[in-house]
Amino acid sequence: MKAIILSGGKGTRLRPLTYSGAKQLVPVANKPILFYCIENIVQAGIHDVGIIISPETGQEIMNAVGDGSRWGITIKYIEQDVPGGLAHAIKTARKFLADSPFVMYLGDNLIGTRIDTFVKEFRSNSPEALILLKEVENPKQFGVADVTKEGKVLRLIEKPEVPPSNLALVGIYIFSTKIHEAIDNIRPSSRGELEITDAIQELINMGCAVESFILDEWWLDTGKKDDMLTANVIVLDELLKAGIDGQVDGKSNILGRVSIGKGSVVKESKIRGPVVIGENVIVENSFIGPYTSIGNDSKIIKSSVEHSVIMDGSELRDIERLEESLIGRNVRIYRNNKMHKALRLMIGDDSVVEV
Ligand code: DAU
Repeated sequence: MKAIILSGGKGTRLRPLTYSGAKQLVPVANKPILFYCIENIVQAGIHDVGIIISPETGQEIMNAVGDGSRWGITIKYIEQDVPGGLAHAIKTARKFLADSPFVMYLGDNLIGTRIDTFVKEFRSNSPEALILLKEVENPKQFGVADVTKEGKVLRLIEKPEVPPSNLALVGIYIFSTKIHEAIDNIRPSSRGELEITDAIQELINMGCAVESFILDEWWLDTGKKDDMLTANVIVLDELLKAGIDGQVDGKSNILGRVSIGKGSVVKESKIRGPVVIGENVIVENSFIGPYTSIGNDSKIIKSSVEHSVIMDGSELRDIERLEESLIGRNVRIYRNNKMHKALRLMIGDDSVVEV
C-alpha cells in the first residue's frame, strides 16, 4: 500500500494567512496540519509516501517536511503543474503509484481517529474504493453521498445545490488501481476540475464495490472552514502532551496540561492549560489562558491571552486582554501609552481587526 498527500492547490480560503504560504503548513497546536496527515499514514504502516505539490508552494512544503527521515520513511515529491482537481492529482502521481493500491489524503484534512482500521478493512474486503463520510451542517460545500440505510453508496455529487443528504465526503480515500480507469473515463466538471467525486461515481457506474464508513469522530477541513481556532481547541484538548523543556521561574504558576519547548523562558507568569508554547519563546509578567498556542521565537510581555493562536516570531506587549484571535507570523501588537487615544495599524490584506 502506498499513500499520496495532496498539498498543491491555491489556499485562497485561508487568506491572509496563506498569501505567502501553503495552507497545509498552517499550524494547529504548533504543528503543521500536513504533519498530522503524515503521522496518521505512518501509524497505518504505510512507508511509501508521495506528496503532491504545486509550483508556487512546493519548495516551502519540501523545506518543512524534508525527506521523511524524521518519520522513518521516504517521501517523494510530485509536482502538479496546475491545480486541475483531485483526480488530476492522481493522474499526475500515476507513475509513483504504479500498480499499488493507495490512500489519498488531502493535506488540509484533520481527523480525530487513526486510519489504520480503514486500511485493514480495505485489505480484508478488497473493494475498489473505500470512502469516509461525516454528517455536516453545510453539505453544499463538500462532495455529498446518497447512501441507503444499509450503507450502500448510490450516488456522489460534488458541491450540490440541493444536497441529497448531509453526509459529506471526508478527504481521505483508499483506492485500488481501478480508480485510474475510472479517471480516464471522466471529463472536467463545471469548475474545470477533474473531480475525485466523479471518478468514484464512475466506479459505481462500472459496477465496482465502493465501501463507505460514517465517521463518529471529529473531522475538520481546515482549508475550508476557516476555523483554525476550533481545530486548535480540539487538538489541544485531545492530543496535547504536557512537558516542560524550557525554564519556568519560581514566581510563575503552571496549571493543567502545558507544553513548553526548548529554550523558552517563563518569568512571573501564570499559564493555565491546555497551552502549547514553542521553542525560544519569552513569557514575562503575563497570563496565558486555556486553548492557546504560541509559536517559536515569540514574546508575550505584560499581556494576557487566551483561546488564541499566535504564530512564530510574533510579539504581544502590554496587551490587557487578547482572546479568540488568530495572529500570523512576525506580527507585533503593543500599546503605545504616549499617543493620544488613537489606533495605529499596519494590517495586511483581508485581515479582520475588532476593537
Ligand atoms: O475536504 C473534503 C472535500 O475535499 C470533499 O468533500 C470534496 O468532495 C473534495 O472535492 C474536496 O473539496 P475541496 O474543495 O475542499 O478541495 P480543495 O480544492 O480545497 O483541495 C483539497 C486539498 O487538495 C488541498 O490540500 C489542496 C489539494 N489540491 C487541490 C486541487 C484542486 C491539490 O493538491 N491539487 C489540486 O488540483
